[in-house]
Amino acid sequence: MSQLILVLDFGGQYKELIASAVRGLSVCSEIMPGDVTIDEVKQISPIGIILTGGPNSVYLPESLRCDPEIFRLGIPILGICYGMQMMCNMLGGEVSGGGTGEYGRVSVTPANPSLKPFKALMSHRDSVVRLPEGFIATAHTDSCIASCEDPVKKLYGVQFHPESKHTNGGQEIIRSFLYDACSAVGDYQLENYIDTQVRQIRETVGENNVLLALSGGVDSSVCAALLSKAIPRQTTCVFVDHGFMRLDEGDEIERVFSSRKLQFIRVNAQKRFLAKLKGVKDPETKRKNIGEEFVRVFEEEATKLGSIPFLAQGTIYPDVVESGGKHGATIKSHHNVGGLPDSLAFSEIIEPLSGLFKDEVRTLGRKLGLPKTLVTRQPFPGPGLAVRVMGEVSKNKLETLRKADAILREEINKSRNKPDQYFAVLTDTRSVGVKGDDRTYDQVIAIRAVTTEDFMTCEYTPIPHRFLRHISSRITNEIPTISRVVYDITSKPPATVEWE
Ligand code: XMP
Repeated sequence: MSQLILVLDFGGQYKELIASAVRGLSVCSEIMPGDVTIDEVKQISPIGIILTGGPNSVYLPESLRCDPEIFRLGIPILGICYGMQMMCNMLGGEVSGGGTGEYGRVSVTPANPSLKPFKALMSHRDSVVRLPEGFIATAHTDSCIASCEDPVKKLYGVQFHPESKHTNGGQEIIRSFLYDACSAVGDYQLENYIDTQVRQIRETVGENNVLLALSGGVDSSVCAALLSKAIPRQTTCVFVDHGFMRLDEGDEIERVFSSRKLQFIRVNAQKRFLAKLKGVKDPETKRKNIGEEFVRVFEEEATKLGSIPFLAQGTIYPDVVESGGKHGATIKSHHNVGGLPDSLAFSEIIEPLSGLFKDEVRTLGRKLGLPKTLVTRQPFPGPGLAVRVMGEVSKNKLETLRKADAILREEINKSRNKPDQYFAVLTDTRSVGVKGDDRTYDQVIAIRAVTTEDFMTCEYTPIPHRFLRHISSRITNEIPTISRVVYDITSKPPATVEWE
């Protein structure tokens, strides 16, 4: 058995990111609900505990709290964001919601003058204003205590998110907690994940067949590779072309997958998906309608193929968490999670990647022997261009967006340093322009390009201006109905990657 770090979940968006950061440092991690009993914690005997963030204020009656006995276990504890506030509050400190919030990258100044200030990702309104006895503040921002510790009891708190790639030195903070405070030995490997999943898939499925929802993206392709390792002759991959793919993408996916040793079916369902979105403007309703239609198509295909009780999906952790976990807030319903209808004709859904992040899925794909071009593809949301056309979707709008997106990708693909994700969005704003001697009143395209590894947080990529100017001029010249191009310079948080 590997040594274990217990991550106690208080409903924060980043709990899996924390668990994944720990695993990335070769220490096994497990997530349990924040209100787990002390006996359950003792049973799994973790070498340390991390308390996650959460959406609530510690003073609200509905806010989760951990068993107070946890602080008397004598093992190191790291509280992050809400986790730090809750720990300080439960041990006699004071938390206040009266100050200004901090969202995004904020400068943090360590109390030790030999250490330099650094940027850290913050996403909080409340903050700790008085520390419990035995604690000292180890860093500040302009408006809050950024970190604290009780060195004797090995209790640590950070108001920022060290698990985010947007905190400079964040990984070092977690490493130091694991290896210095908890004396970890580093005995966890990703290979264990493949073996465990292969065993679990075989146990769950038995002699039955599985229909894999294949989009051609990284996640569902890695899922296909895992299934073909576990149950090669029992899997059929179904690719639903919903008509919201990028230029020529449907044909490319068909070409790649029909030449592989997999059962592959392409379903052309463009008309029915467009009909399902008629008159729909609300992003969540769009996502839910698309999610439902996907499942209906898969059910029909399963019936045609005989009885297939299992539906497999390449759902990864950010899809789950953003669709709202047990205590978390719904950010947006990813089509394959929150977008699923209540009643399904499949008896079970298999999601072997649902505990992993994009970077881990890519590593897993490489370990499973998938080609680099496939493993490094930029992500594309399941609902496709439907969530990049703001407001009601129509055939014409999709055509316009496809053209703009193809120009953007063609230009960015020429450069060596590509952002991690880049695409065009057709906004539902019209603006006045002038082309030739005529006034125009036309559509606005937004360009989005982000730098990230985990897609839970990101920074906008500062694309050089002359490059943006070139892209803008190609889009407005080559697409008559576009009068203006804007560049999105928002990070996540506070924005999300996709606009809907
Ligand atoms: P957001 O917009 O939530 O996006 O910040 C984070 C990452 O997830 C992708 N994304 C999706 N992927 N189904 C998916 O498979 C979805 O419904 C979905 N929505 C967003 C997005 O492209 C980004 O990489």
